[in-house]
Parts: sequence; C-alpha cells; structure tokens
Amino acid sequence: MILIATAGKVGSEAARLLAQQDAPVRVLVRDPDKATVLAQLGVDVAEGDLDDVTSIDAAMQGVTAVVLVSPAVPAQELSLIDSAARARVGHVVKITSKASADSPIARQRGQAEIEAGLLGSGLDYTLLRNNFYMQNFLMLAPAIAQTSSFGAAAGDGQVGFVDTRDVAAVAAEIAAAPAGHAGATYLLTGPQLLSYADVAAALSKVLGRPIAFHTRTREQDKQEMIDAGLPRELADMNAHAVSLIADDDAAWLSQDVPSVLGRPARSFAQFATDHVAAFAPER
Ligand SMILES: NC(=O)c1ccc[n+]([C@@H]2O[C@H](COP(=O)([O-])OP(=O)(O)OC[C@H]3O[C@@H](n4cnc5c(N)ncnc54)[C@H](OP(=O)(O)O)[C@@H]3O)[C@@H](O)[C@H]2O)c1
Repeated sequence: MILIATAGKVGSEAARLLAQQDAPVRVLVRDPDKATVLAQLGVDVAEGDLDDVTSIDAAMQGVTAVVLVSPAVPAQELSLIDSAARARVGHVVKITSKASADSPIARQRGQAEIEAGLLGSGLDYTLLRNNFYMQNFLMLAPAIAQTSSFGAAAGDGQVGFVDTRDVAAVAAEIAAAPAGHAGATYLLTGPQLLSYADVAAALSKVLGRPIAFHTRTREQDKQEMIDAGLPRELADMNAHAVSLIADDDAAWLSQDVPSVLGRPARSFAQFATDHVAAFAPER
C-alpha cells in the first residue's frame, strides 16, 4: 500500500495514476467529501489530519511507501516521518523545493528542516526538488480571463516551470518501484526556461488573444495576495519568493523528469492548452 500524505495538486494526481495502474494507494484527507472522485477510482480514502498523530498512525497501517506532499509545515511532516519510521515503511518520496537552512524564505528553511529529519530517520528516501509549478498560474487565471493581463515582481528572471502532473508522475513511479532511487535527489523542471514575459507570449499564442505582463513591485504583489485573502505573513513570504525570480533564483533546468519517466516533460504550451478554459473570459 502506498500512502500519499495529502490530496492536493500533486497528491491527487499521483493517487489517480497509481489507481490507474491498479497499485494499492491511500490518501490522507481532512475532508473525504473532497476526495469522492479518487474514491470512485479505487483510492482508499483515510480521513485524518497531519496535526493528529493517531490518524497518521492509522493511515500508515500496511504501508510500504509514502509520498510526502503537504504544505510542508515542519511539525506535521516530521510527525509523519516519525510514524513511517515506527511502521518501518520501505521508502519515502519527499516533495520539496529549493530548500536551504539559510534561505531568506521561511518555507525553504522549513523544507530543509524536514529533509534533515527524513535523512536522520533511517528510512530510505528520494527527494524531488521541484522548480515553480506551472499550475501557480491557475490562481491568476480568473484575473487573466477578466483583464488579459497579469503582473508580478519577477522582472526579466527566468524560471524552469514544471507541470505538477509530471511531479506526480515521477512521485508515483518511484513510490511504486523505489529500487535504484534510494538516496537520490531529482531536480524536477519543465523543458524550458521562461520569463514571465515569455509566459505571457505563450498564453497569448494558445488563447488566441494578447495577454500582457507588467512588472510590479514586491509590495504590490504582497498587497494583491492579501486582497485575494492570503494571510499577511504568507503573502509576504510568497511575494518575497517571487521577487527572487528577478535575480534568477529559479533559472535552473534538469533532465530528471524525462530520465525517470522515459518521456519528455510537459511544456508550458501543453499546460496552457490543457487548461485553456480556466483562462477564457466568461461569456
Ligand atoms: N507551488 C510551487 O510552485 C511549488 C514549487 C516547488 C515545490 N512546492 C512544494 O509542493 C508542496 C505542495 O504541494 P501541492 O502544491 O500539491 O499542494 P496543494 O495543492 O497546496 O495541496 C495541499 C493539500 O494539503 C492538504 N492539507 C493541508 N493541511 C492539512 C492537514 N493539516 N492535514 C491533512 N491535509 C492537509 C490540503 O487539504 P484541504 O483541502 O483539506 O485544505 C490540500 O489538499 C509543498 O511542499 C511545496 O513546498 C511547491
């Protein structure tokens, strides 16, 4: 049985792919009503909460591999790692990012703390160190649909955006057949480096109407995120992370998606084509 820690973007797609291959797979979710589609596909839906160790231990019964993906709150992921160690799970695939203990971004410091806990647990593991997700643009999609424009403090910086469906496919592949991946760190990116202006050009081409990108300040980004309902601290952290793109902090690519999956990583054009309805103006 493969346990997937949560059923967000990466977790739900990894669960879907594993169920499609008839691999026994379970997701831990706070609200089973949000996982009815997965349940219909044969995924075992375990109700629980990453803040509730008893529910984690219950979900860990009979588990041979874990996909550790969640908002990456250190206390929560470290308690899941402890539970996996108690249950002598064979392998943990950890979804992470550009983690480092001295990063200016709290989330990256938290990821480094979780990685250190995983490495110290004695469990076999694989780290999936992912670049920014293409799917982040789905949060901007309603505004793009309305205004045919978007802004960010990313300047001319380039990003090796990766499609979360490819992250999920790599996680599912390794969780189902971990041999040869123990101790490895894979850098997951798409096939191209793109600036936000390049993203606007790609969207314009796929959507068949001009989409403009305008550079903003970090403060403006933060305020827009607060206006969209994000807590102030999270908005500050996210705006700071986006502003680092301007210094080419995310300008890295790798061939790890094709080398694990044996097929090319999805391009941004493919992502945009598959989500064209989300960016379409309401009629
Ligand atoms: N976004 C990026 O560009 C990017 C880039 C690289 C790496 N990453 C990493 O990717 C990971 C996030 O993956 P994702 O984008 O697939 O996640 P996501 O779509 O944001 O989903 C998070 C899931 O966690 C669930 N959850 C939250 N708190 C929980 C709790 N206490 N107990 C149980 N479930 C809980 C949420 O469920 P509810 O529906 O109940 O809220 C949701 O399903 C993080 O480690 C992040 O650092 C992100």
